[in-house]
Amino acid sequence: MLNLILFGPPGSGKGTQAEGLINKFKLQHLSTGDILRNEIARSTALGMEAKKFMDKGLLVPDEVVIGMISSKIDETVEQVKGYIFDGFPRTIPQAEALDKLLQFKQIPIKKVLSLEVSEEELVKRLLGRGTTSGRSDDQDESIIRQRVVEYRSKTAPVADFYAKQNKLHAIKGEGSVETIFTALCNAVENN
Ligand code: AP5
Ligand code: MG
Repeated sequence: MLNLILFGPPGSGKGTQAEGLINKFKLQHLSTGDILRNEIARSTALGMEAKKFMDKGLLVPDEVVIGMISSKIDETVEQVKGYIFDGFPRTIPQAEALDKLLQFKQIPIKKVLSLEVSEEELVKRLLGRGTTSGRSDDQDESIIRQRVVEYRSKTAPVADFYAKQNKLHAIKGEGSVETIFTALCNAVENN
């Protein structure tokens, strides 16, 4: 199994690059942000609870997202060639829980691809997307900056967690989508 994590701050291009990687390597996409937005669209209790955090640019509690990922893996593991985790794990407890889960199933993470983009570029991209995406957390610069604050304080330490396992690959996330995709593919294919 080829299991990858696409890592990086909000707006770094995780969703954009996931599409190309899914097609090329035939992976199953697991984006906690997409799953949560789907729960909100269906007005489930989980979605309504998560929305309170998402609308403020805050992370949703660990137990909620860990439970979601765990059941998605259980539902799909027999049918897939590998997973691309997008926007998960985002805290150290999430990373530890994912390691345990994958260890139990003997399907470890192969590589963590970390997209590096400056804060000004992130804000510019997300405000731009906000004009058409309908995502409530893209509408307001202060909420976008709050998402970056959450990233720096809670998510950035996850990179060290995987660096200690020699799995972290930093990729420049600015430039054309195609150039970044090529760099990602090289990181996946070269040891
Ligand atoms: P989530 O949906 O994961 O959003 P995010 O991390 O904030 O990131 P985005 O999806 O906004 O950006 P992206 O990196 O995917 O970039 P994209 O390709 O779209 O999370 C949303 C919320 O859900 C969180 O704030 C939190 O509340 C909650 N949540 C989710 N997961 C959680 C978890 N594990 N734990 C707790 N809470 C969780 O690109 C962005 C824009 O840039 C697009 O317009 C795109 O076209 C453009 N773009 C992409 N590449 C380039 C390029 N090379 N050059 C120019 N523009 C580009
Ligand atoms: Mg995304």
